[in-house]
Amino acid sequence: MAAQGGAMNAGAAVRMRGLRIAYDEILTAEVDLDIAGGEIVVLLGPSGCGKSTILRAMAGLLEPVGGTAEVDGGSGEQCAMVFQEDALLPWRTARKNVEFALKLCGVRRGRRRAEALALLDQVGLDGFGDHLPGALSGGMRQRVQLARTLATQPRVLLMDEPFGALDAQTRADMQRLLISVWQRHRTTVLFVTHDVDEALLLADRIVLLTPRPARIQRIVTIDNPRAPGARFEPEFARRRYEILAALGEDAELGAANTVEAS
Ligand SMILES: Nc1ncnc2c1ncn2[C@@H]1O[C@H](COP(=O)(O)OP(=O)(O)OP(=O)(O)O)[C@@H](O)[C@H]1O
Ligand SMILES: [Mg+2]
Repeated sequence: MAAQGGAMNAGAAVRMRGLRIAYDEILTAEVDLDIAGGEIVVLLGPSGCGKSTILRAMAGLLEPVGGTAEVDGGSGEQCAMVFQEDALLPWRTARKNVEFALKLCGVRRGRRRAEALALLDQVGLDGFGDHLPGALSGGMRQRVQLARTLATQPRVLLMDEPFGALDAQTRADMQRLLISVWQRHRTTVLFVTHDVDEALLLADRIVLLTPRPARIQRIVTIDNPRAPGARFEPEFARRRYEILAALGEDAELGAANTVEAS
């Protein structure tokens, strides 16, 4: 196993082919999508269309009724999920939470402490290792959660509205943190959000989904992804308009839904 503080396995390619997922025989998603190793793809779509369902199928938590979801040609064992609500063990300190994940991954006892501290350092929590989750802010708990997830050396990060419960400032900090973690590890990221700006700030490509069953309506490719200051460019506003129109989130914009797809 590679050193936890160092570079990990690069991101794996994801391939969904005719992937059909249903609850009680009611179809909720049907997707064909290829994601390159190391790419950040954001899923945007109406509430209840099936975004979380797609992530759960990728993580192997749900059995599809048809099609395939492959990670580098195999099963989804290399995927790790990050949820909106952190799932930390409240009776363990931040460091012990990360150490526990390292233990489950087979890291030797003697190395766990140093590796946990290195991971906490990476997510900006240097010095907070001995805090219990209850003594940390929401943003800090999400950082611990990210450190714990990185401990499992995932090749695909599945993130389901991970920053949805955070205030705007903390959310912006977490977006920057995710980009810096991604720059280091080049993990493939499949990210669900309702926030069009967040999608525009993070994504290489934004996948717009239809109402249930979630099908791909269009894919927006970002020309210069994650460029500093991009949010102040006219292109950013144009993209936002295009996406909101495509999602029909604004009745007036929806009526003018003729912006060209890219
Ligand atoms: N465990 C379940 N049993 C039955 N139906 C479910 C279950 N979980 C989700 N569904 C249904 O499947 C559909 C898709 O749900 P999903 O949670 O994937 O949507 P979503 O796009 O993530 O929505 P949101 O944006 O609100 O999080 C919804 O109509 C939902 O009611
Ligand atoms: Mg959801």
